[in-house]
Amino acid sequence: MRIGFFGGTFDPIHKGHIDVASAVLNAAGLDQLTFMPTGDPPHKVHRNVTPGALRLQMVQAAIGETGNPKFSVSDMEIQRNGYTYTIDTLRALHAQNPNQEYAWIIGADVLADLKHWKDYHQVFRLCSFIAMYRPGYSREDFLTEYEELTRLGAKIQFVEVPSVDISSTELRAACEAGQDLSGWVPKSVAALIGVYGLYQPDKPMDLAGIRQELQKRLSPHRYAHSMGVMEEAVRIGRRVGVPEGKCALAGLLHDAAREFTPAQYAWLGLSGENGALLHAKASEILAKSRYGIEDPEILEAIACHTTGKVGMGILAQILFVADYTEAGREGPHFDKVRAAFEQDGLMAAVLAECQMTIAHLEEQGKEICRDTLETRDWAQDRLGE
Ligand SMILES: [Fe+2]
Ligand SMILES: [Fe+2]
Repeated sequence: MRIGFFGGTFDPIHKGHIDVASAVLNAAGLDQLTFMPTGDPPHKVHRNVTPGALRLQMVQAAIGETGNPKFSVSDMEIQRNGYTYTIDTLRALHAQNPNQEYAWIIGADVLADLKHWKDYHQVFRLCSFIAMYRPGYSREDFLTEYEELTRLGAKIQFVEVPSVDISSTELRAACEAGQDLSGWVPKSVAALIGVYGLYQPDKPMDLAGIRQELQKRLSPHRYAHSMGVMEEAVRIGRRVGVPEGKCALAGLLHDAAREFTPAQYAWLGLSGENGALLHAKASEILAKSRYGIEDPEILEAIACHTTGKVGMGILAQILFVADYTEAGREGPHFDKVRAAFEQDGLMAAVLAECQMTIAHLEEQGKEICRDTLETRDWAQDRLGE
């Protein structure tokens, strides 16, 4: 099997990439073409590159949209931290599967560079090259490089690809300027860019800015709940001595992804039937990527607000409880958790909430999350100490 590897930052992947990849796939007679988003390439250190996980999702979404079974994506370079050299990737690929034939897809203009690549002699042994050139050029234009590299042992195949009049750089600029990218990137990629708020002018978002945005993004009911949890988290935080700002952000953002569709969860690499559980993890990702939250306590609190978690920090306990006791919640089981907090403190409220949730799920014959059972036992232990 002959697999072509198409490396790139893909920040973002656009229709031009897809057109070029399709052309190479056909012209070079590949069995498979694997997109390989770069991890942290040395030549891009001056610009903030979108986190690898998000670039990977955009590529996944884009190739999914083509429906071409010969396209795939590899996270090998993204998974590897630090700088990645082609030789390292090739060695890893060969270690995984030494019998595969690997073809590295490059622009023909890169040929002149190849003998500066790290350990290029070995690179030449481990893969062949597909050199792409645009209409208006021909393989003769690269003859000098071709002859020299062939002498050094490189195997090079030339392929003409359609010219592409878009670049990721231009797309980022267009997006920053508020233009709609949907003509230039696959639909699912445009949606992801919107969801994550990628390529926006740098403006740190404050609480007011986040509120404004969530009001637009969430249904009135969900927004009201988020505001309620924010106020309740701040109230509890004051009582137990946790700074207001942290409580407010955690409360405001805890359900930021609560209204995602299954497709949106899938884009985040989250799957499963239980949207009620997925949204906590998704909201954490959103808090990080869209709202720039870096505080690990806030992120932890959002990630475990639905189920609880053994050993969760005090902010996570506050959010867990506030989600349950905010003013909009009416009913005897919510009152029990409120009473537990007033009488015996935060941990007692955590315990009461786990018990209520478990009883409620049992009643409905629904599966009970292990985290919740374990959190109940943990809270019980802590209160008994
Ligand atoms: Fe939630
Ligand atoms: Fe909530």
